[in-house]
Amino acid sequence: MKQQVWITLFSLATILLFSQCKKEEKSIVIKSPDSKIEMTFLLDKNGQPTYFVKRNEDIIIDTSKMGFEFTDMSPMEKNFKILSSIPFSQNEKWEMQWGEKREVLNIYNSTCIYLQEKSELKRRFNIYFKVYDDGIGFRYEFPEQERIKEALISKENTEFRIIGDPKCWWQPGDWDIYEHLYNTTKFSEIDALKLRNHKNLAQTTIPFNAVNTPITLKTENGFYLSFHEANLTDYAGMTLKVETNPNRFVSQLVGSKLTDYAVKRNTPFVTPWRTIQIAENAGDLIESDLIVNLNDANILGDISWFTPTKYVGIWWDMHLGTKMWDYASGRHGATTEYAKELIDFAAKNNIHGILVEGWNTGWEHWVGFEDREGIFDFVTPYPDYNLKEVVKYGRERGVELIMHHETSAAPLTYAKQMDTAYKLMESLGIHAVKTGYVGKLIPKGEYHHGQWMVNQYRKAVVEGAKHKIAINAHEPIKATGLRRTYPNIISREGLRGQEFNAWSSDGGNPPEHLSIVAYTRMLGGPIDYTPGIFNIKLDPYKKDNQVNTTLTHQLALYVVINSPIQMVPDLMEAYVNHPAFQFIRDVPVNWEQSKVLDGEIGDFIITARQDRASENWFVGAISDENPRDVTIDFSFLESGKSYLATFYKDGKNAHWNDNPTDYYIEKKKITSESKIPVHIAAGGGFAVSVVLE
Ligand code: NOJ
Ligand code: CA
Repeated sequence: MKQQVWITLFSLATILLFSQCKKEEKSIVIKSPDSKIEMTFLLDKNGQPTYFVKRNEDIIIDTSKMGFEFTDMSPMEKNFKILSSIPFSQNEKWEMQWGEKREVLNIYNSTCIYLQEKSELKRRFNIYFKVYDDGIGFRYEFPEQERIKEALISKENTEFRIIGDPKCWWQPGDWDIYEHLYNTTKFSEIDALKLRNHKNLAQTTIPFNAVNTPITLKTENGFYLSFHEANLTDYAGMTLKVETNPNRFVSQLVGSKLTDYAVKRNTPFVTPWRTIQIAENAGDLIESDLIVNLNDANILGDISWFTPTKYVGIWWDMHLGTKMWDYASGRHGATTEYAKELIDFAAKNNIHGILVEGWNTGWEHWVGFEDREGIFDFVTPYPDYNLKEVVKYGRERGVELIMHHETSAAPLTYAKQMDTAYKLMESLGIHAVKTGYVGKLIPKGEYHHGQWMVNQYRKAVVEGAKHKIAINAHEPIKATGLRRTYPNIISREGLRGQEFNAWSSDGGNPPEHLSIVAYTRMLGGPIDYTPGIFNIKLDPYKKDNQVNTTLTHQLALYVVINSPIQMVPDLMEAYVNHPAFQFIRDVPVNWEQSKVLDGEIGDFIITARQDRASENWFVGAISDENPRDVTIDFSFLESGKSYLATFYKDGKNAHWNDNPTDYYIEKKKITSESKIPVHIAAGGGFAVSVVLE
């Protein structure tokens, strides 16, 4: 379907613009609409496709090569000629059904370059370039051709030549998980291999000195770059191998032990987009729509059956160890009674979802079992959990169940039961599922981020849509903007979530964690982080663990993190009668517009978002381990109007470790003229609700 759209678009462009094709052209320049970014394609002296990127007069990406290797034929990299090139420009607007903004502008200049080998094989491939004001994307197309019916790609060699030795925020190119902490080093100091054999990960495979994407850099002359991919469809996930002399990333596709290729496709096909976001301010990376824009338009139509929502859950109990997933433990969490108690709590507090983990049979065999095929059943509840009764009780109180399917990384078992499981959900009017893929994959030899699994994750999305089900995947494939095409892809994990604070043996997530995540992982798309822990020290449940932020930092995350579903995860006892809980009651999850007011990667971020259902605004700010003084400039508010702002600020003695719950609430009348100084504690933050009067 998607491919057809492309083909139609470009065959139309071919007819319209054929007269503009220049035969045997050697170099082709494509400029962004504002003319600041310039991308040049050229065939080098060996006839190898290369490109470089400039912003104003600065070279951002130096001349970088492109090419492919296959298991059953010679590489396609040299001796090419340009058959033709077709320019195309777009200027459109589209609407997000839910998300960080309503209206998205999609404005770019593009060119498709048609290449053919001069040698006797005469194989062909095409490269689509799109140049935006906020970055570039390019993808390869293998058209239908005599010499390539089926492409068995062992390597894609897309280079990104880096200028100088920039500062990088990176995590290792793990083939099985994105739950590493971010590292901050110079490019030349990236060492992913030292992060192998991580103690706190259920599965990890780091074969090369490579990084996962999005990877964000600050160049020596002050630009911010982020490398990623868009529209990862029927292809292997891309990690970036780190090579020096000269400094460069080279695409390294996630492979499989079961095949000698990483990708198998029949022609014609297109690869995902390779993307480079380019910004002058760190916050502009977050405001950019490059990744979603490089995906195809919505093919599901109206999905208003999914309502963005906050949700409570039978979940944190298990991570704290107060309850268990399995029935046999004698401490089973998922009981009808506990679910009803939580529903009552949710209904009272403007929360409209509830997640119940451990409701279905199979958990006795979950962790540590080699043979996990067939252990989980996605329709049979444990005897102390009445699924239908919980659903009904919730519905009567405006609280919908979020289903839970832990596949235990046995996706074939899941695929077999998917239809039955999704039908059950549909019959009960359940519209969202949190999926999980913890553990080493079965079949052995496949990896979470390889082509085979990319297709398994997609199956859940496509089948889910048929049953009006939205997907929140944990241990997922990375977000590549597909929420535009499939708006039932609502959120996902794909990072070190809050849960690590409850049990990891390495001190949990450091105070700086989310001020790196916002500028890296979050560029891919929404995150199910589960913010909002109030019992920061986890007393009395976990003596050796804690959350490494202040309480107001936890509140601010509801604004800083983008997701149409946000958990309210702590035990009810932590929230009841707590004045700061008012912010969680009030904060929405669906936005009219979003702005990053200030920030620096790894240091801090201040985000403002406007509610989609009112004219109210919400501001959230978080800091790393350093205290700082900032000023909120409220000029984003409508001028001439008056607002009541409620500030939730760190107290005078607040500190993420020494005094994390010291906070106070302050109310002030403000207008668009207001500029208000705020002190943020070490590891602290603040949250503000701004209500139109
Ligand atoms: C891993 C998920 O990230 C976590 O949230 C969940 O509780 C467990 N899997 C069990 O499915
Ligand atoms: Ca996880």
